[in-house]
Amino acid sequence: MATIQILVGSVYGGALLTARAIKKELESEGHQIAVLENPVLDDITSNNAPLLVCTSTTGQGELPPNLLPFYLALRDQLPQQPGRPFGIIVLGDSSYGDTFCGAGELMEEALYETSARKIGETLRIDALETMEPEADALPWVRAWLEQV
Ligand SMILES: Cc1cc2nc3c(=O)[nH]c(=O)nc-3n(C[C@H](O)[C@H](O)[C@H](O)COP(=O)(O)O)c2cc1C
Repeated sequence: MATIQILVGSVYGGALLTARAIKKELESEGHQIAVLENPVLDDITSNNAPLLVCTSTTGQGELPPNLLPFYLALRDQLPQQPGRPFGIIVLGDSSYGDTFCGAGELMEEALYETSARKIGETLRIDALETMEPEADALPWVRAWLEQV
């Protein structure tokens, strides 16, 4: 049993649906999952639950507008959370070349600066390869949870 906070960044809903699919699946197994669609810093500083970023990439390797304020506050205030586990699922499209899944890198760098601890490899989901991001995300999350 684990309590997980999912930080969602999504423009067209793909990453949000993925986060909701993760919540549904894991809650059926007794875990507690909070899907934060418009996260603010207080959501994470008031507890020490593992963090799962589930975001798409927009612009040129940028974060979706709903996650951007959280990211900027995190970079600005850098609330230290040594050892706090986090994982990253990032949606992108490899036809964007160098900026492929760039939003995941932004979140990773910011969380590292708070001394949080990354668990597992980042899951990059390529829209060119799959129409069902949750099909990739669910097995990845299971493996991730075992390491948290
Ligand atoms: C305007 C726009 C800009 C995008 N920019 C990038 C990008 O820089 N890098 C990338 O990997 N994907 C990029 N994408 C692809 C999206 O990240 C991808 O389609 C993703 O699955 C969308 O998820 P969402 O439905 O949660 O927003 C872009 C898509 C759009 C429409």
